Amino acid sequence: MRSACPVQISGVGCHVPERLLTNQDLEKMVDTSDEWILQRTGIATRHILDPGKATSDMAVEAIKALCRSTGMEPQEIEVLIVATVTPDMYFPATACLVQDKLGISRTWGFDLSAACCGFVYAVSAGVAFVASGMHRRVVVVGADSMSRIIDYQDRNTCVLFGDGAGAVLLEPAVQEENSFVDAHHEIDGSGGPSLCMPAGGSLMPPSCETVKQRLHYVKQEGQPVFKFATRKMEEASRIVLERNHLSPDDLRLLIPHQANARIIRGTAERLGLREDQVILNLHKYGNTTAATIPLAIRDALSDNRLVKGDVVLLASVGAGFTVGTALLRWAY
Ligand code: UT7
Repeated sequence: MRSACPVQISGVGCHVPERLLTNQDLEKMVDTSDEWILQRTGIATRHILDPGKATSDMAVEAIKALCRSTGMEPQEIEVLIVATVTPDMYFPATACLVQDKLGISRTWGFDLSAACCGFVYAVSAGVAFVASGMHRRVVVVGADSMSRIIDYQDRNTCVLFGDGAGAVLLEPAVQEENSFVDAHHEIDGSGGPSLCMPAGGSLMPPSCETVKQRLHYVKQEGQPVFKFATRKMEEASRIVLERNHLSPDDLRLLIPHQANARIIRGTAERLGLREDQVILNLHKYGNTTAATIPLAIRDALSDNRLVKGDVVLLASVGAGFTVGTALLRWAY
């Protein structure tokens, strides 16, 4: 990723809806327990979007928070990339809806669909725009309203997910050394059936039958996804570290996708990382798909666990399967 124009993250802004869904609430909805959820996933609460609101609304709030923290005016955004698997609708793209809600006129943008790797992939796309000199200000948003596609009668999935959004600003780096270093991405479509929403697309358009069979909800085979995620988080992390002559010990922070505390701890153990080198915040939000990593960055900053010059690795595995890591030195 080294280029004529090094790229930095200049700021982060996030939004989660106010309404909470706790493990105790879920105990009343399906055959589950607070103990099982905490032990098997590490999740305690999730934030749930109010009816009548959509992914674009959370993305707008995240961008407003980003603007407050950076001093940027929304009007200055040149490119807007929205990573999501829960767009407001099939089309137009959520990026267009966000642009309109922000009332900004000089931007272009698009949606990127890569499930839990959406944020990392969108960041790589945004970095390429800035590194090439094509644009100077790219905003990447990871936003998902998972509650809209979760079956709250299915205990295998309904305890896992929550709603949220996070945005970062990508700009030319102020100091060359504090910038993006490298990235490693892979996709493996053979894993598609293990985690998907079967109906609603061109293969199985909506019908009374698909609704009756509850096919417009997330379906997951937990075990294969768990095993793939634990193996690939380590593998993809090592690839990008080794290519840059770094060891896990050199990392100040691993900021992983937050799907399951056992996957994160397992990855940390395989990499030989200490607890203080890893961000774990999914007890508060659950799995917010494309939003987990910006939320984790925001929490790391507010807990003073991330400062200028720190070597940071973003790492994610998700539906697809998708795998993504991005290595950077923190810029501020
Ligand atoms: O972000 C996208 C990527 N997604 C992931 O990374 C998720 C990966 N997978 C996982 O995190 C885990 O596989 C789960 C948390 C989904 C499930 O945990 P597990 O330890 O793999 O459980 P399991 O699926 O093997 O199920 C074990 C038992 C089963 O009961 P029996 O068959 O042993 O009687 C399940 O029916 O746990 C049962 N179970 C539950 N029990 C209480 C499944 N869900 C629940 C639940 N409450 N919510």
